[in-house]
Amino acid sequence: MLGDRASHDAGLFFNPRDRRHLLGLDGMPREEILEILDRAEVYRHNLSIERFASDELTGVTVLNAFLEDSTRTRVSFEVAERRLGALPVSFSTNGSSMSKGESLLDTFRTVAAMGIDLIVVRHPGAGAPSTLARHLQVPIINAGDGVHEHPTQGLLDIMTLRQAWHDRFEGRRIAIIGDIAHSRVARSAMFGLTTLGTTVTVAGPPGLIPSGVEGLGCRVAHSLEEAMTGADAVMALRLQRERMDHGLVPSLGEYAQVWGISADRLRLLKADAVVLHPGPLNRDVEIAAEVADGERSVILRQVTNGVAVRCAVLSRCARRKSQG
Ligand code: NCD
Repeated sequence: MLGDRASHDAGLFFNPRDRRHLLGLDGMPREEILEILDRAEVYRHNLSIERFASDELTGVTVLNAFLEDSTRTRVSFEVAERRLGALPVSFSTNGSSMSKGESLLDTFRTVAAMGIDLIVVRHPGAGAPSTLARHLQVPIINAGDGVHEHPTQGLLDIMTLRQAWHDRFEGRRIAIIGDIAHSRVARSAMFGLTTLGTTVTVAGPPGLIPSGVEGLGCRVAHSLEEAMTGADAVMALRLQRERMDHGLVPSLGEYAQVWGISADRLRLLKADAVVLHPGPLNRDVEIAAEVADGERSVILRQVTNGVAVRCAVLSRCARRKSQG
């Protein structure tokens, strides 16, 4: 029955670049990235004012559907929604009918029929947000889909680099170190940063560098030292052991020795380079505790920028929805 309805859905006319949605940074033009970041800077300023509250999204109901674990992305979307006056509602796999076998589309069609204006979704399956965008009339914001993309994280990473790099992306280079294969954060950063003219070098254990990564415009370095030497920034990534079969990495101790960002290794970077990490971080595995807390670290700035980026994205999708 619900299958019949699909022909009346947005599917036939679906355009993945439709700006009502935010599905990924792949193919997003430079001007669009910068436009979102300019707006995010205004929100960042406003959010720094104590008890900032706006009525911009009053009357907008936002569903936060996190079907995979999350701390900062989930909380930061909710903070952004509440600051802009929206009404956030949420569900997760546990406690929803998805645990009773209901399909993704049936669940979301049901919820959308309750008068939801925007959907923020995190899902373990790559492509789940675009499936929803194809079949529902509601704008979809991807909050991380499997190993595919995490566009708001990519935007907040780029915003943080823009601040550190004084608005200049061309001629800059970032080294992304660790589990590239399972990282939607790395993929979104790669798409966005290469569009802006930044060189992205990746490095990690051979089993964790996806084949074809050069085709995405990145360079592959064969050691951490090669990747970090002369870079303007380094991003450390967590080993996503929940997405690995087994045996892709040696012990955590050995991993830290070869691929960990230690204080000593920071000397390889340019003098004013910064250190990023999307979190959650495993101290003294992919990043030394003293580096995470050190003066080069912009990890907490990334988190603060995350709320501003999410305000900008929510506002953009809500505006585009009302423009039809
Ligand atoms: C990341 C994610 O979920 O993709 N975290 C985040 O959203 N800030 C990275 C990770 O889980 O390692």
